[in-house]
Amino acid sequence: MNAIYLSGTGNTRHIVTLLLNELGNDGKIVPIESDDVMEALEADELLIAYPTMFSNIPYLVRDFINRNQNVWKGKKVFLITTMGLFAGDGTGCAARLLKKYGAVITGGIQVKMPDSIGDCKALKKTAEQNRAIVKKAEQRITTIAKQMKEGRYPQEGLSFRAHLAGLFGQRLWFYNKAMSYTNKLKINPDKCVGCGICAKSCPTQNIRIVDGKATANAQCTMCYRCVSYCPKQAITLLGKTLHQQAGIEKYT
Ligand SMILES: Cc1cc2nc3c(=O)[nH]c(=O)nc-3n(C[C@H](O)[C@H](O)[C@H](O)COP(=O)(O)O)c2cc1C
Ligand code: SF4
Ligand code: SF4
Repeated sequence: MNAIYLSGTGNTRHIVTLLLNELGNDGKIVPIESDDVMEALEADELLIAYPTMFSNIPYLVRDFINRNQNVWKGKKVFLITTMGLFAGDGTGCAARLLKKYGAVITGGIQVKMPDSIGDCKALKKTAEQNRAIVKKAEQRITTIAKQMKEGRYPQEGLSFRAHLAGLFGQRLWFYNKAMSYTNKLKINPDKCVGCGICAKSCPTQNIRIVDGKATANAQCTMCYRCVSYCPKQAITLLGKTLHQQAGIEKYT
């Protein structure tokens, strides 16, 4: 099984890597923005993973599934979403799309991890609390891998009930908001030193360095990678003030 994932602050990458290790699976693990993604897509069995965004699938992943609609027929796909609190049918969003193109969904898990939105006060936890959340998630993955080895695949987020929870819990109210944020990245020119870390790491190449300062375009998939890893704390997206920079390496 090859894995293809989007991960802004590393949570999803961490869970994918752990699950495949626990399964003893030595397939490829490839970020969705990597040049190797088409090769990874050739496997008959795939793991697709992404962070839940407003109980929905990030546009980069949705577009990837749609763009490659001809390859899904007959493929077995296991889905992972990570979330800060509530995913509803985070896995279901991709499952419905993939099934439309003929994929067979073998199962899915929705894993609670540290919240990646560093510029909103809500949900903020201490580093110690976040470490505890990650530890709990890691223990869950060990249990899930054991079940999967016995052929019992979890079906989290894939039921009709989960669909309703995701739809009415968040998606209906936030869908337009998320879509309207593709061009809302704010970079403070007084703080930016033009180091280029944000530009190099953005999965959608949404940032360029112009005259020694970072400038954003209109293709932000809201992954929060640049917000989390800017060494000068110069970037915000949903909020105006940075309260915490996320990043899995702080919690493992
Ligand atoms: C724009 C945005 C929207 C989010 N919406 C949700 C949400 O609806 N429910 C939730 O539980 N977590 C939500 N989160 C939190 C992330 O899903 C969570 O922190 C995830 O583990 C981040 O994974 P990553 O580090 O792989 O990007 C959101 C994060 C972002 C950046
Ligand atoms: S990472 Fe921060 S300081 Fe570096 S170029 Fe980007 S915005 Fe500027
Ligand atoms: S601009 Fe920043 S938040 Fe938006 S997709 Fe790129 S790295 Fe992610």
